[in-house]
Amino acid sequence: MTSSRRVIIGISGASGAAIALEMLRVLAALQVERYVIVTRGAEHTINHELGPDGREQIGALATVEHPQSDLFAPVASGSYVMDAMLVAPCSMRSLASIAYGTGEGLLCRAADVTLKERRPLVLLAREAPLHEGHLEAMLKVTRMGAIVSPPVPPFYAGLTDLDDLVRQTAARALATAGIDPQTNLRRWQGATEQVVSPLLKGSESA
Ligand SMILES: Cc1cc2nc3c(=O)[nH]c(=O)nc-3n(C[C@H](O)[C@H](O)[C@H](O)COP(=O)(O)O)c2cc1C
Repeated sequence: MTSSRRVIIGISGASGAAIALEMLRVLAALQVERYVIVTRGAEHTINHELGPDGREQIGALATVEHPQSDLFAPVASGSYVMDAMLVAPCSMRSLASIAYGTGEGLLCRAADVTLKERRPLVLLAREAPLHEGHLEAMLKVTRMGAIVSPPVPPFYAGLTDLDDLVRQTAARALATAGIDPQTNLRRWQGATEQVVSPLLKGSESA
């Protein structure tokens, strides 16, 4: 039986290609259809960060892969119903392109369609530090309905290594897009003790 759920994974040339790979693994296990778009910038970062077989691994996990230049792909139209789109990682270039609706390339066009159809769009925007232009683009896409979710580590979660961080980041982003990753997503359960400042303690005893 095939799943009726469909997700677009846009991979742009920011650092963090491993997050996209992990998302594709999770979505494949969930039998969610995976429509993958890889930008030219991402071709370089995938090779640099995942090694020479990284590109092949991504291709093998895609249900369908559309070239960035293919503006005739089904995902370029709102009439082709998708459940969500994630751009992971999202470069500042792709972020700006989405923010200003330049429609340049399929990734940006698919994101534009996702926004106009009011479907979840999660952008794992990665750059540091950020200048005003980056922040303005983030504000703009947020006002348009996208969710900017930078891949920052949850330091409280007791992560063991980089692979653990990648798994948690991918699972969290999918959950943000409304897809239950059905993996061990570590959530903050609350502290058992409250830290009271010494100053406050002093005023209580007075
Ligand atoms: C190894 C490497 C890491 C990069 N990391 C980032 C990054 O974290 N964020 C970013 O905005 N650009 C980063 N870049 C630059 C982008 O790849 C470049 O701006 C590219 O044109 C983005 O275009 P795209 O969005 O079409 O992929 C990186 C480039 C390289 C080679």
